[in-house]
Amino acid sequence: MDFQEGINLQARETFYITTPIYYPSDNLHIGHAYTTVAADCMARFKRMQGKDVYYLTGTDEHGQKIERVAREKGQEPAEYVDGIVSNIQKLWQTMMITNDDFIRTTEKRHEEVVQEIFNKVYEKGDIYLSEYQGWYCTPCETLFTERQLEDGKCPDCGREVELVKEESYFFNMAKYAPRLLDYIEGNPDFIQPESRRNEVVSFIKSGLDDLCVSRTSFKWGVPVPFNRDHVVYVWFDALINYLSAIGYGSDQEKFDRFWPADVHLMAKDIIRFHAIIWPIMLMALDLPLPKKVCAHGWIMLEGGKMSKSKGNVIDPRILIEKYGLDAVRYYLVKELNFGQDGTYSEEMLVNRINYDLANDLGNLISRTAAMIIRYFTGQIPAPAVEEAVDLELKEAARTAFREATEKLDKLDFCAYIIAAMRLVSRANKYIDETAPWLLAKDEAKKQRLATVMYNLAECIRIAVILLAPTMPTLAERTNQQINFFADPGRLKWEEAGIWGLCPAGALVTKGEPLFPRIDLKSLENLNGEDKPVEEKTEKEPAQAKAVSEPEYISIDDFARMDLRVAEIIACEKMEKADKLLILKVRLGEEERTVVSGIAKHYTPEELVGKKVVLVANLKPTKLRGVMSQGMILAASDENDVEVLTVERISSGNRVK
Ligand code: ME8
Ligand code: MG
Repeated sequence: MDFQEGINLQARETFYITTPIYYPSDNLHIGHAYTTVAADCMARFKRMQGKDVYYLTGTDEHGQKIERVAREKGQEPAEYVDGIVSNIQKLWQTMMITNDDFIRTTEKRHEEVVQEIFNKVYEKGDIYLSEYQGWYCTPCETLFTERQLEDGKCPDCGREVELVKEESYFFNMAKYAPRLLDYIEGNPDFIQPESRRNEVVSFIKSGLDDLCVSRTSFKWGVPVPFNRDHVVYVWFDALINYLSAIGYGSDQEKFDRFWPADVHLMAKDIIRFHAIIWPIMLMALDLPLPKKVCAHGWIMLEGGKMSKSKGNVIDPRILIEKYGLDAVRYYLVKELNFGQDGTYSEEMLVNRINYDLANDLGNLISRTAAMIIRYFTGQIPAPAVEEAVDLELKEAARTAFREATEKLDKLDFCAYIIAAMRLVSRANKYIDETAPWLLAKDEAKKQRLATVMYNLAECIRIAVILLAPTMPTLAERTNQQINFFADPGRLKWEEAGIWGLCPAGALVTKGEPLFPRIDLKSLENLNGEDKPVEEKTEKEPAQAKAVSEPEYISIDDFARMDLRVAEIIACEKMEKADKLLILKVRLGEEERTVVSGIAKHYTPEELVGKKVVLVANLKPTKLRGVMSQGMILAASDENDVEVLTVERISSGNRVK
């Protein structure tokens, strides 16, 4: 840290973000990686904005579940968790997670605070001794009353519960319910998304039971300071990590600097703990509440939710080895629509890599670099002659910056990616519109060509900054080809909001493709041995199967398809290919050649004059030596194929 930064540190605005502290009952999977990567994306974004960020993650190591798992493996709990925790820390390193701290609930700095807080709330009279009778779900570490059970099973996960009856300390939650409801009403952004807030509000309104906050039936926990027969309930213990990590009771200055937290991020499974129990604990401590508690959806597998206790998990390390870190992080950040569930499949991951990263982003970078090398001997030229289409491009860049910023601030990660990638698509379209290869043929158009190249480089620079929080090696890797950043490790977010910062004269060198295409066929082979999904899902208990949501696409995904009315003006059979026809189609002014596999169902004469629907922005591809510029839509069953036709609307118009 340099001197100037040292001075500014105190004045800088802070940003404190947390993930759940995960149970080290087993190695983590892409569900945990999702939350941790999303929070990392947020932390990197805020750092790029110049904030003093504290990003906290860690492990929740006490409780009956961990004790049992360890004993089953013939180990002491402490020994068992050490092994898993070290794997977790390695995983976060591999994923380039920039957490500022990693808290383990077995650390002294944490246990002391738990005892101090237990004492404090007890002395205040909000914790009292009584007897508990209820049903305990060990995987969820949650006690239920008889009436909360569903068909005698855990209402959250559907598994068996066990009867427990013991002396316990209770936390007087009911007393704080009205205050919490007021707070939630007065702070509409406190619980996100809105659907979760509604769920929490109705849960509170249905009446809060006092919470059992100690156990006597096992030992693996923080002892209650004034009654050593009891250990503190694991959730009461765990939530306190958000305070103990930033120096509650030991480093007042640090604590005041970072509390209240800006964001607690998690999935919906644990929203009630964070939006009900945790705020009430803080009220009992007279501490301000976190600014935002945000719950994303679940990454599902086709057979239901992924979970450590079900054993049907996808290991992020395998995916990173196969596809690279940037690609896996990109996939994760884009995967879940705000608040909704998504279904993981390796095929979807590969599609994202091929469509978004290889076709759109990678291509934009490699095409631009190649053209600057060819036309300007590898130096970004200064812009000169401006045209109307340039203004549109600049507007697209401004919009991308504004929307990416807004969506990230709302923790709408998917929409942020879409906003950033829209600029990439727009820049690719700009290449088609400006046709640099034609400009290059005419020496008189050199200045115009220079402007086009500059503008493309500028779009890449902006897109790379916007995507940097998601893909930590992107800026460095792009910079090796287009050298616009003096220090790719220290990008400033606002520099994506200013057009024209790309330095003319910067060197461009040819490099490897940043995101090589992956052959979906090779995937099938790979899946044989090491795909961790299928075999295990069959072992899931039937009652744990959840119905996953269908795999929706957003309207933005759909809008990426450029469907057009195309009039067939000529058609002939392709020689030596009995299925293929070569069509000449007209889209307004433009003419294209399309190869279509419908020769068994239509004669050329039948087709000429028909207006069909063309996927106009499908990447051109050579079929039997003929370049096909699009694909026409057709319905089919086992026997027949019928092309979609349009009657009244003239060719060139959009279908949407
Ligand atoms: O609940 N999809 O720990 P945990 C998306 N120790 N996110 C998922 C996911 C999935 N399929 N599976 C897990 C605990 N997650 C407590 C937390 S905090 C004071 C104590 C992520 O190991 C998601 O963030 O069961 C979820 O909330 C969390 O892991 C649960 O992790
Ligand atoms: Mg869990």
